[in-house]
Amino acid sequence: MPMHPALKPVSGLIGTWRGAGRGEYPTIDSFEYTEEVTFAEAGKPFLTYVQKTWSPEGAPMHTETGYLRVCDGSALEFVFSQPTGQTELAEGTLIPAADGFSCELHSRVMNSASAKQVDKTRRTIELAGNVLTTSFAMAAVGVPMTHHLASEMRRAN
Ligand code: HEM
Repeated sequence: MPMHPALKPVSGLIGTWRGAGRGEYPTIDSFEYTEEVTFAEAGKPFLTYVQKTWSPEGAPMHTETGYLRVCDGSALEFVFSQPTGQTELAEGTLIPAADGFSCELHSRVMNSASAKQVDKTRRTIELAGNVLTTSFAMAAVGVPMTHHLASEMRRAN
């Protein structure tokens, strides 16, 4: 089945990416992690997204899944589901660049009854050829919008 034409601006994401990340937040100890992300299409106007992370010792850390779609050629809508009880509805404008694009996504967040309180998130995604760079900030647990994560991945397949 051919790729849906609406996905053309983000088609460079399709595949699996792997690399290293570092996390911090004022309330926790800093940490390092390995990250693997897979974007896939199935002929529909969205990409599926699966992310997994591991500690330097190989223990599973955070994981999340989601869907990404592009509206009117440049409006990105990314829905994230967290096993920790949050869902993020992230929206931003795709900025084309040489061999890729960048996008800053701002989220509205819903928290389950037992989840740690996350009020807002801000994510950046930058694709440049075979390099995918991400960052993540959040307003959470009483702390205003502050950096939590940064990672750089390369195409694994
Ligand atoms: C690469 C993905 C991520 C990794 C490796 C990661 C890792 C961590 C670690 C190690 C901690 C400290 C220990 C703990 O509470 O478990 C933490 C805390 C936290 N993370 Fe993340 N995280 C990731 C993504 C996220 C995302 C997407 C969110 C929100 C939607 C989030 C929200 C939080 C919150 C609210 C805390 C608690 C802070 C506190 O209790 O003071 N994290 N994270």
